[in-house]
Amino acid sequence: MIKTIATTPYTDQKMGTAGLRKKSKVVMQPNYVENFMQSIFNTIGDLSGKVYLVGGDGRFYNDIAIQKIIKMAAANGVAKLIIGKDGFISTPAGSHIILKNKADGGFVLSASHNPGGENGDFGIKYANESGGQAPSSVTDKIYQNTKEIKEYKIFDAPDIDLSKIGTQKLGDMVIEIIDPVTDYVNMMQEIFDFEAIKKLFRSGFTMRFDAMNAVTGPYAQRIFEEILGAPKGSVVNFRPLPDFGGLHPDPNLIYAKELVDLMFSDKAPDFGAANDGDGDRNMILGKKFFVTPSDSLAILTDNYQLIPAYKKGIFGVAKSAATSSAVSRVAKAHNIGYYEVPTGWKYFVNLMDSNRITFCGEESFGTGSSHIREKDGIWAVLFWLNIIAVTGKSVEEITLEHWKKYGRSYYMRFDFEGISTEVADKLMADLEEKLPSLNGRNFGTYKVSKAAPFVYNDPVDHSSTKNGLVITFEDGSRIVYRLSGTGSSGATLRVYLEKYETEALLEDPLKMLKDILEIAMNTAEISQRTGKQKADVIT
Ligand code: G1P
Ligand code: ZN
Repeated sequence: MIKTIATTPYTDQKMGTAGLRKKSKVVMQPNYVENFMQSIFNTIGDLSGKVYLVGGDGRFYNDIAIQKIIKMAAANGVAKLIIGKDGFISTPAGSHIILKNKADGGFVLSASHNPGGENGDFGIKYANESGGQAPSSVTDKIYQNTKEIKEYKIFDAPDIDLSKIGTQKLGDMVIEIIDPVTDYVNMMQEIFDFEAIKKLFRSGFTMRFDAMNAVTGPYAQRIFEEILGAPKGSVVNFRPLPDFGGLHPDPNLIYAKELVDLMFSDKAPDFGAANDGDGDRNMILGKKFFVTPSDSLAILTDNYQLIPAYKKGIFGVAKSAATSSAVSRVAKAHNIGYYEVPTGWKYFVNLMDSNRITFCGEESFGTGSSHIREKDGIWAVLFWLNIIAVTGKSVEEITLEHWKKYGRSYYMRFDFEGISTEVADKLMADLEEKLPSLNGRNFGTYKVSKAAPFVYNDPVDHSSTKNGLVITFEDGSRIVYRLSGTGSSGATLRVYLEKYETEALLEDPLKMLKDILEIAMNTAEISQRTGKQKADVIT
């Protein structure tokens, strides 16, 4: 029943910021998934007794890839797979299931916030027993194996029925199909004050949650409408669709347009939120008010005492280097640990495992805590609802009070998309070479205090990672340049800008950052090198 099939390597199976991410059509090539999975299995080695989670965000090709993975796992001697019903699992729920079952890891089939469908993107994220994505030391070995693979093993059997909860077998391997929502809901009930939030909705509070036709719909309906009592219809686009109904499931001001239009209209409910394709990103909105993810992390951290699970104290907080410095001021005020890591959630895992941090976040709409080892979209929404329920304040009031207390980091990200890899790599290399000459230089009223690559030395595994180039000015303003590691073709240059203000708290961010944007564009010669006069996406 176990077949060994000869294959030849693909040369492009390197994992990026978050797993392998490719155009669907690339992944659909013969043996593409098989090569990648066998390379992971070969890297792990002995699979006897091992238990893995499998599931995805329901995007196009999820159903086919999942059957391949099941049959290959059985052929390679995996003891057990835990699979979300119908092959669905959100990234945060998957992390929780790995931890709860003390599983050896898992495979989440998702390209996160990238569009899906035959002409969209597909991806595979590999988590280890930490419940978080495998570190670079492991993914590097996997990549090496993908370049040398000669054969893979697969069970010759009909497709497994994933629609019935319960246990079945394929050869010696046990397959347990689970309801992916229940465990996750129970965990959220242990963290937050559900009674307070129920009371909030009973008092007439209104919300709109946009699941963007992706995986969080069923979770959101169960939690917000069925359990917490938000009016029926509060959760929209709740049915996961293979192409996300044509939406780009990235919860930001551009792609979550329907929600943003509503929240900035006179019909806005009290609270608005959206999640991405696989449910780990979140966007928070009040009536005609947007909270940047960097501010959200700072505000949640500042209010940890309002949440049952955290009120006894938190270890510390971490952010990616590209995220604004807002949370650093909160960490200082509360006298808790504070860390800056490279972009990518995997860098938070060691800090959580070693009790250095409880909360963490990224500017890219990611917020989370050590309840799991991935960012968690619904967790962030519940955290905000819990704060609102306890304080009786609106999203806007909470944020304004925060700025009054700590000052405001005006912050924006500018993405230059679809650049050739060559041009992008050269731009970064030349800029890096130029950085030392910028130290101490004046650009108008801005004086450079430090210009250097961002280098992270992990305090736990002592690995060192270089990620992005940072120019810091004497007033605390910063420019960060990075190349995206999640694209499926070409290169995207990300430029992150911030400026700290204690007096002018209600200005237009673009106006406040205009001068720094000009410095950033000129210093890296972005227009000359890319032919682009302005960014393609601004968030
Ligand atoms: C992007 C975000 C990063 C996030 C990752 C996965 O990666 O910038 O913060 O962790 O997606 O959601 P990038 O494309 O910048 O490498
Ligand atoms: Zn995601």
